[in-house]
Amino acid sequence: MGTTITILSQKGGTGKTTTVRSLADAYRRAGLEVLCVDLDPQGNLSDYFDVPADASPSVADVLSGQAKAADAIHEDVLPANLGLAEAELILAGKMGRELTLRRALREVKRRYDLVLVDCPPSLGLLTVNALVAADEAVISSEAEYFSLQGVEQALEVVELAKESLHPDLEWLGIVLNIADMRLVHSREALRQLRERFGEKVFGTVIRRSVRYAESAERGVSIVDFAPDLGADYVALADEMLERLGGYEDARQRLDALRAELVPA
Ligand SMILES: Nc1ncnc2c1ncn2[C@@H]1O[C@H](COP(=O)(O)OP(=O)(O)OP(=O)(O)O)[C@@H](O)[C@H]1O
Ligand SMILES: [Mg+2]
Repeated sequence: MGTTITILSQKGGTGKTTTVRSLADAYRRAGLEVLCVDLDPQGNLSDYFDVPADASPSVADVLSGQAKAADAIHEDVLPANLGLAEAELILAGKMGRELTLRRALREVKRRYDLVLVDCPPSLGLLTVNALVAADEAVISSEAEYFSLQGVEQALEVVELAKESLHPDLEWLGIVLNIADMRLVHSREALRQLRERFGEKVFGTVIRRSVRYAESAERGVSIVDFAPDLGADYVALADEMLERLGGYEDARQRLDALRAELVPA
């Protein structure tokens, strides 16, 4: 049975979509079957994976009950497009609206080792659906002033979902993303997060680089485009599996991949 991990943040542009994409890439190279779920009407994740914007059915059809998740998966991506914004509005008026994604994924989950869910840049109904569908939440935080506040708010929503809808929901950790550790404010953000959340902050920091925008533009994974940077995500992928427990074979493969990416 696959473990479902939802990547969320309180605000936009914290690197959520890049994280889902790069983790999926690392895990697949390590031999795991990974389903990526795009829950953002912007459809950035779908775009990254070259799923056309008019791919049908999409996650919007799944949430509005018009398609089964199994039929809406295109090459291991459950894609989104602007239609999801409308589906969210319709969903808001329905009974069990927070449980819809969880129910829809129940069947397809079995076929995957991991399901990674990308959230929109808000803590609304779609993000709540992503949390209720998840086993684990990962909070992505940009390395800026006020990042602590954003993480606190995201965590509040995780706790709310856990208390009122999904008692088994856990949170795996916080990743400091798009971080330039030469800058005082990035170091300060990390210090504050570690002081407040201790071990919950992943040891791996995702470094900032313009190469990410370039790799996205060219549709090439960061692991291929800039292997030394890709190694950050391979390390994060491994740390996440370590926290989940098990996955020994995949972890060994991630180790080997990392050694290839950053020659000693
Ligand atoms: N480590 C990084 N260094 C530099 N730029 C990055 C990094 N990761 C992502 N980016 C760039 O930052 C922008 C935002 O990243 P991304 O789309 O992953 O964030 P997001 O949290 O999903 O945004 P949104 O909330 O709008 O969905 C993109 O242009 C992306 O290419
Ligand atoms: Mg995004």
